[in-house]
Amino acid sequence: MLAENRLAFATTTDDNRLNYQRFVRPLTGRLLEALRLDVEYVFGEGDTLEYFDEHGERVQVYDFLGGYGALLFGHNHPQLVDTAIDLLRAGRPFAVQASLRGYSAQLGRKLNDMLQARLGREYVTTLANSGTEAAEAALKHAQLAHRNRKQALLDRQEARLLKLRNQQHPERLPLAPESARLLRSLLGEKIETFAQAVTAVRRLNRERFLETGALFCCLNKSYHGKTAGAVNLTENELYRSPFVSIGPSVLFVDRRDPADFEQQARANRLRYFSLALDEQRRVTVQSHDFCNIAALFVEPIQGEGGVHVLDGDYLAALRRICDEHGIHLVFDEIQSGMGRTGHFLASEPSGVRADCYLLSKSLGGGLAKIASVSIARDCFEEDFSLIHTSTFAEDDFSSAIALRGLELLESDRSILRNCREVGAEIKAALLDLQRRYPEVIAEVRGEGLMLAIEFADQGEAESHGLRALACSELIGFVYAGYLLHEHRIRVAPLLSNNNVLRLEPAACVGRQARQQLYAALDRLCLALRQQHFHELVKFIVGQATPGRHGPLADYRGRCFSTPPEEVVDRTVGFLMHFVDASNMHLFDPSCEQFSLAELEDLLERCYLFLKPFRMHAHVLYSKTGKKVRLQPFGLAITSEMIQRHMQARDLEPVQTLIETGIDKAVAAGCEVLGFGGFTSIVMQNCKAVREETLAVTTGNSLTVGMGYEALLQAAAEAGIDLDSACFAAIGANGNIGSLYCELMAEKVPSLVLIGRPGRERALQALAARLYAQAFRRLRAALARKGGLVRLAEEHTLAARLAELPAARRWLEDETDDATIGTRLYHGLLDALGDEAPVRISTDPADIRHADLILGASNQTGSLILAEYLRPGPVVICDVALPADTHPSVANQRPDVRVIKGGLVRVPPAPDYVAARNAHLGVRDFLLEGLPIPPEHVFACMGETLLMGLTGITSHYSRGDVRQEQVREMLELARLHGFTLGDLKTGRSF
Ligand SMILES: Cc1ncc(COP(=O)(O)O)c(C=O)c1O
Repeated sequence: MLAENRLAFATTTDDNRLNYQRFVRPLTGRLLEALRLDVEYVFGEGDTLEYFDEHGERVQVYDFLGGYGALLFGHNHPQLVDTAIDLLRAGRPFAVQASLRGYSAQLGRKLNDMLQARLGREYVTTLANSGTEAAEAALKHAQLAHRNRKQALLDRQEARLLKLRNQQHPERLPLAPESARLLRSLLGEKIETFAQAVTAVRRLNRERFLETGALFCCLNKSYHGKTAGAVNLTENELYRSPFVSIGPSVLFVDRRDPADFEQQARANRLRYFSLALDEQRRVTVQSHDFCNIAALFVEPIQGEGGVHVLDGDYLAALRRICDEHGIHLVFDEIQSGMGRTGHFLASEPSGVRADCYLLSKSLGGGLAKIASVSIARDCFEEDFSLIHTSTFAEDDFSSAIALRGLELLESDRSILRNCREVGAEIKAALLDLQRRYPEVIAEVRGEGLMLAIEFADQGEAESHGLRALACSELIGFVYAGYLLHEHRIRVAPLLSNNNVLRLEPAACVGRQARQQLYAALDRLCLALRQQHFHELVKFIVGQATPGRHGPLADYRGRCFSTPPEEVVDRTVGFLMHFVDASNMHLFDPSCEQFSLAELEDLLERCYLFLKPFRMHAHVLYSKTGKKVRLQPFGLAITSEMIQRHMQARDLEPVQTLIETGIDKAVAAGCEVLGFGGFTSIVMQNCKAVREETLAVTTGNSLTVGMGYEALLQAAAEAGIDLDSACFAAIGANGNIGSLYCELMAEKVPSLVLIGRPGRERALQALAARLYAQAFRRLRAALARKGGLVRLAEEHTLAARLAELPAARRWLEDETDDATIGTRLYHGLLDALGDEAPVRISTDPADIRHADLILGASNQTGSLILAEYLRPGPVVICDVALPADTHPSVANQRPDVRVIKGGLVRVPPAPDYVAARNAHLGVRDFLLEGLPIPPEHVFACMGETLLMGLTGITSHYSRGDVRQEQVREMLELARLHGFTLGDLKTGRSF
């Protein structure tokens, strides 16, 4: 029978994957796929599961997740399966509501017998379909009971009121002055007569007592489900906060200190009022106190909140407080009950008795969906069974299986014994692991077969890869994927804490499974100890080697380390991403074990789930003595991947990542945030950044400034004489292109401004601006004695104008007005044609005149081709993304030098710091993940640092950059000792 099933299920995993992602759980489906957790199990038996891998091979795994604790009896327990089959074969009807439900009757009886034997009270059970529904039903019942109690109190007062009224001439009864004052203070109205007092008291009792919503209490780290009511009993903000407005009012109290709950019970009281006659036959208002907390929900072992076992004394104290204040005590044993700890109820050993018990999960025997709410008869509200119903609850199928499961629990003694003994063995093994890997395992918790292992947080790990996973709350899923694919062990992290793996295997979990678990966890701990990111994630790119585990390289010390904390003047953040996947070993050394294709695959699978994370911080020292901390935030994405989003006009996912990075920078106390690589472009040169609590910059001012200096240096190295050189700019009309032109006009006598067709007017306007600036410089020079002599050094284009007889003559007649540049442009073009100092073009081939070329277009596709270039030496500064220069230039033209701008060399650390860091093994100032030499930064990062050092705390290069900003940044660079470093030649962002 089972063998047939295996075949019947085995065929459609790929379709199922697509359909699941498209039609069932889009995001979760994609996450599961990214981490290869989307295996489709086709067979389960006892403590094992089976699936078919991508080669069609059947793979068996040991299940330590145990259906989130629903599989105490293991998968497909034969006796429970028989019960199910017998029921189906017998044609037992399931949907026969409002009739006698035979098996539910037996189940109610059985639950009562088991509870009563342990607790001494009789219990009435309401059945539900899932854990959260049970919590919901308990919530509703507690609310109903609370309201009924309030109503009963008021009914009693009403009876006393009627008695008063039935006195002779009640209207003549005087109202005691202090009572009149009380009512007035409460209602803001004058109350003088008996009749008014009656109305007032009734109104107060209705509005401020009966109709005031009850409160519920839960413990910190509680989890009671996800429906609208239950989710409000669940502390986790992520699940709860969007739904607070549609749920009950809940107070969360300290899960260790009962005084906190007691204080809430004392503080949250309501008053109701009654009327009486004092000895002088005056009507007095009496006020009574009532605790407004309807129920306290407690998981004796908190499951989803981290597997925390609550102390017996603590539970006893809660019981006492509940008794004192009339609060219902609900024990949610949905996860901890049904024998999982070796006792039917986890709370049993404490001897504490609740008013209500919730069970689910293993109650369904791993086959049925069922939950129970068992309420002590003396607390039970009879009308609840009329007003709380469900189509599927109480069905004979799930009731019969639950009943059979409870019988099994009683008859098969090995189940509870295993929970205790095997649980103790596993816990001891985990504790031993913790003793051997104290830096890797933070804590081992739990009881019986409800265990958890909490790993140390890797958010500040040496390995950047581990940091990235930890900061994205993915690391627990990676552990789970690793254990599954490398060791055939199924576990899962807690959704509320990614560092915690829960272990809730079936009671029948075998020795072989346990041994495999211990070996697997040992290897996981070793990989973590040795910061071996590759070992932990290679399964993601299909490189798992199950059963073959050789020695593991130790990457400790080969990763990076943050220098010791130091008092700095300011902290600045910087958003960065990979230039390409080939650099990932710079970012995490164990990536050297991946091929490029694997690294690309790894990023592709995970990038949308990986949040920007804090990389190692650095301190940078200005030559003025100021210090700034640089906190880079890494985005696990390459330039090419971002470009793909740009081309597809699908920027939102990348913007979301960047916005998370911004939030993290704010949280890390950064006062300035620089946008590296494509992040500034994606955020429209930072104009799309909404955050106002920190200053942002694209870094474009210093980038242009350093690019300009690099161009000059490269020209000098190539032996190009600037005084006679021609500079051509592709993309001249853009902000960056035009800034270069303005700067270069000071250095060369001739410029060609190239833009794409249709941009002629913008190019003309730029030419006019260059002329206007030259004109003013020339005018100023003419006004100074000997000015003309110095002009060639200050502004070469102006000097050129001065030399041109046509231009000079013509210039002398002109006056400076807003149109001077335009008139010069047209005048010189008419007079000199192709010889005019500034020309415009829409043809990239016009770079043929130039010795110095700027590539700054925002087009895809190469515009600078080898065949366009004049004989060398020629220098190209290509700052375009993607590059403007065709690869043929490098291959065919050794006389042409291509640079990408200039890197910035940062000032060296003072001697005492250098000595200390060397001593500690901390390297030179080196930015991980970027292909740049030590002591260097990209200019955009340099600008961010300069802002921090200077104390610029308002946005700087945001949107278009102005020439003055470029000059100011160059000035600040000089002031703080930042210089032009290596010229950028390799691939940049
Ligand atoms: C203690 C507790 N209560 C309630 C629930 C909710 O159960 P379900 O997921 O069946 O709705 C859970 C589920 O994990 C739980 O552990």
